[in-house]
Amino acid sequence: MTESPWTDLGPADNFPNDQQACIDALGVRLVVMNVGGEFYAVENICPHAGRPLGDGERRGMTITCPYHGYTYHIKTGKSIVNPDDEMPVRTFPIRLHRGRVEAQLSTQKEANE
Ligand code: FES
Repeated sequence: MTESPWTDLGPADNFPNDQQACIDALGVRLVVMNVGGEFYAVENICPHAGRPLGDGERRGMTITCPYHGYTYHIKTGKSIVNPDDEMPVRTFPIRLHRGRVEAQLSTQKEANE
C-alpha cells in the first residue's frame, strides 16, 4: 500500500498552542488544532448538517459544533454522545516536520469509503 503524501499546511507558528485555525488545503476544508504542542486536524464540515465545525469551541480533546451542539472527539472523529449511531467527522493524520505542519489529506476518507 502506498502511503498518502504529506501536504504542507504552513509553519508551526501559524498554529499557536491551544488555538484552532480554519484553512483550505488541496480543496479540503480543515480545522487544525494545537493542543499543548500536539496537532489534530478534522474536516471543517460538521457531519450533522454540513455547517463549519471550525466555528465551534474546542475543549480538551473534543470540539462542539455551535449550530446544534454535536460534539466530536478530535482524534477519532467520533460523536461523543452517540459514537455508534452518528456519522464521525473526518480526521486526518497530521505531524510537525522540520518546523512545519503537514497532513495526509486522503487516507481517512478512502478508509471510510
Ligand atoms: S451542523 Fe453541526 S451540529 Fe448541526
